[in-house]
Amino acid sequence: MSDRKRYVVVGTGSRARMFIDAVAGSQKDVAELVGFCDTNLGRMQWHNDRLAKEGHAPVPTYADTDFDRMVAERKPDRVIVTTRDCFHDEYIIRAMRLGCDVVTEKPMTTDDAKCRAILETVGKTGRRLVVTFNYRYAPKRSKVKELIAGGVIGDVKSVDFEWLLDTSHGADYFRRWHRQKVNSGGLLVHKATHHFDLVNWWIAASPTRVFANGALSFYGHRTGNGPAHRGQRCRECPATAECKFYMDLAGSEGLKGLYLDTEQYDGYVRDHCVFGDDITIEDNMSVSVRYDSGAVLSYSLNAFMPWEGSRIAFNGTKGRLEFDDVEKTYISGQGGTAEGETLAQGARIEVFPHFAPSYRVRWEEGKGGHGGGDPRLLNDVFRGAGDDPLGRAADHVDGARSILTGIAANRSIATGQPVEIADLVKLPRR
Ligand SMILES: NC(=O)c1ccc[n+]([C@@H]2O[C@H](COP(=O)([O-])OP(=O)(O)OC[C@H]3O[C@@H](n4cnc5c(N)ncnc54)[C@H](O)[C@@H]3O)[C@@H](O)[C@H]2O)c1
Repeated sequence: MSDRKRYVVVGTGSRARMFIDAVAGSQKDVAELVGFCDTNLGRMQWHNDRLAKEGHAPVPTYADTDFDRMVAERKPDRVIVTTRDCFHDEYIIRAMRLGCDVVTEKPMTTDDAKCRAILETVGKTGRRLVVTFNYRYAPKRSKVKELIAGGVIGDVKSVDFEWLLDTSHGADYFRRWHRQKVNSGGLLVHKATHHFDLVNWWIAASPTRVFANGALSFYGHRTGNGPAHRGQRCRECPATAECKFYMDLAGSEGLKGLYLDTEQYDGYVRDHCVFGDDITIEDNMSVSVRYDSGAVLSYSLNAFMPWEGSRIAFNGTKGRLEFDDVEKTYISGQGGTAEGETLAQGARIEVFPHFAPSYRVRWEEGKGGHGGGDPRLLNDVFRGAGDDPLGRAADHVDGARSILTGIAANRSIATGQPVEIADLVKLPRR
């Protein structure tokens, strides 16, 4: 009998590819793919067709309604959850109740009630939940953690954090399921979970109080930025020649295979107009956060910028650390591009000690996606994190802390009031 761990993947879209290829490739000595589950038969088939070209036997496929039957028949040790964000809780909880451990993509879930239910299930079942925060593993961000943990700027008292999404990657959130808050929690949950997780991890603190503002100010039909005569989706639009946001779904093998050719199964439209009238998420957000360490964060996220990346500064009792990062542009599922790749010469870490000259800090890029971060993350997920001095592997508590800032920010935008994290979820002690 093989001692490889048995994995099923639920939600076989674009992101699932990294996990599927890892189990079928670099991790196959310790892991085995035993089932796919999705609402869309065509997308599961697309992955099986790819695997067949590599000589892999077809992975048994199950509809979402047959998830429990899949677990009973395929007996997985672990379930990898890469569905739309709003369904993560459902599969995490069902998998744990059926006796499986879970690896979930970020965000762990999208609202506080679902977060409470997940934490309660972890407590009751004792199963393990890993949240795959790949940003932590990028060597440049690991270096920032190492420097701050090493005390180069003393105790961090405040953080200025600006994240820019460009008119390619940023716009793409407004074409897909992400455009509706009910699916994604908005960008303050879906996207900023990465950023709030980084801050929690970098400064080793938990958020306690949040105040936020946000608006849809560039995309959406009310802004008046779209073409006067436009369609509901790019494929049916009369303004393709004039619109800078036109996307040709048929023009990329990945987009065509995963989404256009599979519309018949679930009617999911991947190329909605970014100026549509049914967008419920913000594209311009500003958040103020207080932490249990006494530190404060000033955060902004804009999704219609001419370049993609971040400007982050940590102000400490012994000086300041600046981390700037300009990233390559990217479209999910398109192929040929990967999220979060730094442009050559595009990143800078600089330490400004009190009463001494500043100095730049270098880091070593590795082989593989995200400067060698992806292979390291996959090794941690499939082989165990071991004794990582930077503590990059993330669990359900990290997952909860990272989404609660965004969930509180959503509530603050809706009410105009500050929100106490403890009023949303009581985080378990470690
Ligand atoms: N860590 C990262 O950097 C990163 C990058 C991209 C996406 N993600 C995350 O990965 C997840 C998937 O994103 P994606 O870009 O692959 O989206 P996607 O739309 O390509 O794939 C989502 C898949 O889930 C399936 N699905 C939807 N509802 C379902 C249900 N009820 N039951 C089973 N399957 C269902 C869809 O049919 C689709 O195949 C999201 O949670 C996203 O936040 C993480």
